[in-house]
Amino acid sequence: MVKDPEKENVYWPSENLKEKAWISDAKIYEKARRDPKAFWAEKAKETLDWFEEWEKIEEWNPPYFNWFIGSKTNLAYNCLDRHLEENRNKTALIWEPEPPEEQQRLLTYQDLYEQVSKFANALKDLGIKKGDPITFWMPMIPETAIAALACQRIGAWHSIVYTAFSPNAVKDRMEDAESRNLITADAFFRGGKTLKLKEKIDRVLEEIGAKNCIVVNRAKTDPPMKKGRDHFYNEIVSDEEPYCEPEPIGAEDISFLLYTSGTTGKPKGIKHSCGAYATQAALTTKWVFDLHPQDIFFSTADIGWITGHSYSLYGPLLNGGTVLWYEGSPYHPEPDRWWKIIDENKVNIFYTAPTAIRALRRKGDEWVEKHDLKSLRILGSVGEPIDPDTWGWFFEKVGGKRCPIVDTYWQTETGGIIITSIPGIGPFIPSVAGPAVPGIKYDVFDVTGKPTEPGTSGKVVLKHPFGPGMLRGVHKAPDKYKEEYWSEYGDEIYFTGDGGRKIDMEIGEQNLIEITGRIDDVLEVAGHRLGTAEIEDAISSLAEITEVAVVGKPHDVKGEVPAVFAVTKSDIDLERREEELKRKIVEIVRKKIGPVATPDATYFVSDVPKTESGKVIRRFLKSLLKDEKLGDVTTVSNPRCLKELAKKVNYKGPEKIVSFTT
Ligand code: WTA
Repeated sequence: MVKDPEKENVYWPSENLKEKAWISDAKIYEKARRDPKAFWAEKAKETLDWFEEWEKIEEWNPPYFNWFIGSKTNLAYNCLDRHLEENRNKTALIWEPEPPEEQQRLLTYQDLYEQVSKFANALKDLGIKKGDPITFWMPMIPETAIAALACQRIGAWHSIVYTAFSPNAVKDRMEDAESRNLITADAFFRGGKTLKLKEKIDRVLEEIGAKNCIVVNRAKTDPPMKKGRDHFYNEIVSDEEPYCEPEPIGAEDISFLLYTSGTTGKPKGIKHSCGAYATQAALTTKWVFDLHPQDIFFSTADIGWITGHSYSLYGPLLNGGTVLWYEGSPYHPEPDRWWKIIDENKVNIFYTAPTAIRALRRKGDEWVEKHDLKSLRILGSVGEPIDPDTWGWFFEKVGGKRCPIVDTYWQTETGGIIITSIPGIGPFIPSVAGPAVPGIKYDVFDVTGKPTEPGTSGKVVLKHPFGPGMLRGVHKAPDKYKEEYWSEYGDEIYFTGDGGRKIDMEIGEQNLIEITGRIDDVLEVAGHRLGTAEIEDAISSLAEITEVAVVGKPHDVKGEVPAVFAVTKSDIDLERREEELKRKIVEIVRKKIGPVATPDATYFVSDVPKTESGKVIRRFLKSLLKDEKLGDVTTVSNPRCLKELAKKVNYKGPEKIVSFTT
């Protein structure tokens, strides 16, 4: 990387990097901006094979749109079949199991193709067909990739639930999707432990009357199996043919559902298309990570999140790349596991989240210095803003000041990356994500819907024609779709839920942007997206609690963590029961949502700030936790409670507590 001679902390790609890069000329931004639809259509043709071409590139009936109308293609075909002729024996997936004594597994494109076909045939034999939803509760093992691609091959929709969500969360998502089929594993390994899945989900399978449960016998733990309903993965594929015709998937068809958190208590089933989604996933993988045929791409993102879908699986395979999956914890058996994996496999591209970098940094530089990381060429960050300090460490210690850090901003809803600097163009600036990727238009609006000036914070929005990877609605909830994304500034402007600030620097005639984080009631805990309302709903189900508000509390490793403000029934003896109730709150959240949402702190209070109409104003709770100025408190109907709250959280902010009591 080359340091900017004038501006501090601004880096540009070296000549070396530019020469190698797919994209190194900023003119591409102007070309894409002149006619974004034509740009995406050209890229769709270049990056994918289509069974039938489209009659029309895009159609827009705000707030609905569709891309490549009349086309047909198949994601599994594009990830596998078309690479066979030239790359049959190339490694598609390197799988690193957690137990260090266990052998790595390598799957070539041919292996993956055959196993996907066999499993697709097995799904068909179980009566599963195009348009059927299948829920996954699966760890990072090769069968998860195989099963996802098999769904794509036959046009079934996968709905993948992260393993750190609880069985109840799986149940909610199965019910919403009307899914009666589950794929899981007996157990998997993480942090040296054997974490069971099948046994834990049995109750849910009974309650929803599941038709099929396919179990990968990963850890050989002898899970309970119900005759007729439960099938071992190995047994159902053993007699299947290694060929299965790929189903043509139309532009109007869905290729997967992925549940994510919004501002209400219930997670939303985000719907994604096939060819259009694949176009953005494929192009951004190639350009943003500068993926070349010989590269090994290690994305630490779990398949349970959108990053796992677009960049641990589909993006790299669509480009005929080699992707590396690791099953377990970065600390096992020691905190250098990721660095060891990079060293031993000569990884070229490494994509992870700021939380993980912060946590690994704390373990000490010696763990990373022990390893030769010179194979790395590109580093990526996602999920939350990356603070300059963490950026600096990642840049220097992991990337050896050689590798650009692509700070990729996007969402489950956008399907693919929308804002980031590109390796061959730059610039790379700590905490600045970059310009929008070619073909995407972003802006930052003030409350009235006017674009802000550089340096002024506002709300990050997207403008038509968006990217082809953009969501196709919320499953069974058209009202939610409109309300969450298309109501802030009317139905032609997509509101991301994030705050941001343009900076006074342009690339391709657009300002770079700094993303400052969610401004709605969504948390980013260790880069994992959670809704405050979901956590509040779980806690409100406790009989002892009458009122609850959950907000994000700053945390130096995880970015933020859930903090709970709870009001108990008046007859509860808090002095005696405080610890017990705190435990109960943690337990209920873990049970209803999962360990991923575990509250970090609970404050019992006598009241929370509310409007005249009784709506909790979380903004003040957030400011109190961050020691920030509270701003205008005239909308609070019960300002006296702020004094108690400030004391509880040990508020050291700029305002005097006494002023809240009037
Ligand atoms: C946040 C993850 C700052 C943001 C791909 C967004 C980021 C939410 C970044 C989506 C980034 C993602 N800088 N914030 N580079 N990337 N975010 O749906 O708040 O799990 O709205 O998708 O993560 O989370 P999701």
